[in-house]
Amino acid sequence: MLQGKKILIGITGSIAAYKSILLVRLLVKAGAEVKVVMTPAAKDFVAPVVLSTLSRNRVIVDLADGNEWSNHVMLGRWADLFLVAPLSCNTLAKMAHGFCDNILLAVYLSATCPVVVAPAMDEDMWHHPSTQKNLQLIREYGNEVIPVEKGELASGLYGDGRMAEPGDIMSWITERFFRTEELKGKQALVSAGPTYEAIDPVRFVGNHSSGKMGFAIAGELFMRGADVTLVAGPTQQQVQYKGIKLIEVRSADEMLAACSANFLSADITVMAAAVADYAPAARAAEKIKKAAGGLDIALVKTTDILKELGLQKKPGQYLMGFALETNNEKEHAIEKLRSKNLDAIVLNSLRDKGAGFGIDTNKVTIIASDGSETAIGLKSKKAVAADIVSFIIQQHA
Ligand code: CTP
Repeated sequence: MLQGKKILIGITGSIAAYKSILLVRLLVKAGAEVKVVMTPAAKDFVAPVVLSTLSRNRVIVDLADGNEWSNHVMLGRWADLFLVAPLSCNTLAKMAHGFCDNILLAVYLSATCPVVVAPAMDEDMWHHPSTQKNLQLIREYGNEVIPVEKGELASGLYGDGRMAEPGDIMSWITERFFRTEELKGKQALVSAGPTYEAIDPVRFVGNHSSGKMGFAIAGELFMRGADVTLVAGPTQQQVQYKGIKLIEVRSADEMLAACSANFLSADITVMAAAVADYAPAARAAEKIKKAAGGLDIALVKTTDILKELGLQKKPGQYLMGFALETNNEKEHAIEKLRSKNLDAIVLNSLRDKGAGFGIDTNKVTIIASDGSETAIGLKSKKAVAADIVSFIIQQHA
């Protein structure tokens, strides 16, 4: 989403400037073109040479550089977005009152692109009425403010005022400015992660699914403009964008209820969850005590959620499933595609190196109901998700 986007980063004199190094690195890695302007005070916290190396562009600190005048007007016109991170209390006050005594402020005052700030300061400074008033003023001028976080501060105190983490800033600006409109107006439903079927209050039947693939697909559908509901079993994953509606469930029954409640309004549904196929016939109310001999647990089949959705599917709804196989992969995947009334199925083979549970990469083949096969070579789960969503858009939208 950030490929080719021109991002101008403004760095001010705050201890949080060290995080800007990572921010620049992440933006460049995501394909953005990055330029950096700094206030003179920022040089006390990070060296311009680090930022020029990482951004692959000259860093501008002075209004005049030797005999050359720095063209602040053109910088603000070059950028798709001017992101001041960190924003110190001092620069905030100057932005609020039109001061122009350094290059960063000159760029700010002449910028024609959107301006976003990520403040960083100590808690008492943050809560001071003048700071809050200045924030209100710069908001009124049309700038956007990335919320500060609560946590350990440079003073050693704990409280509000920490600059948002670089990864969160990336998600924030991507969500706010760089969503595409390919799926605008479409509702998408995605399931992800495993389900846990309780044996007793402390034990469960489950599987190794990490939820990474489903979360990545939900993120990608959202970034292409869809309204996304993500039904997730127990995972460590965090939704990348605040606009995604997350419904957390535990068991296959709970996932069935959440998916059924959202399916009718969904234009696109992707069932990436590794739903447990069997659940204990009864859940013991108390922890089962260890006894002599073994323990037999009677298991009953869970509902096949995808099959249920396939039965309810109306014309115009697009339904995609996943198939995780270890042998006769294609044959099994095609059987699932037909029996569950799908438009396409994403085949994962555990025999492929770099594919499957827990890891960050995947290698899949999408088999469509028209018999076509699209192979997606080994790449990150996020990149696979982008290809899967492009496939869906091409087939459905
Ligand atoms: N699925 C589901 N509900 C279940 C089991 C599976 O919705 N109770 C969905 C999965 O989310 C996936 C697809 O069905 O999209 C295929 O899941 P998979 O585990 O590969 O196959 P199963 O149908 O469970 O068959 P088997 O385990 O015998 O391979």
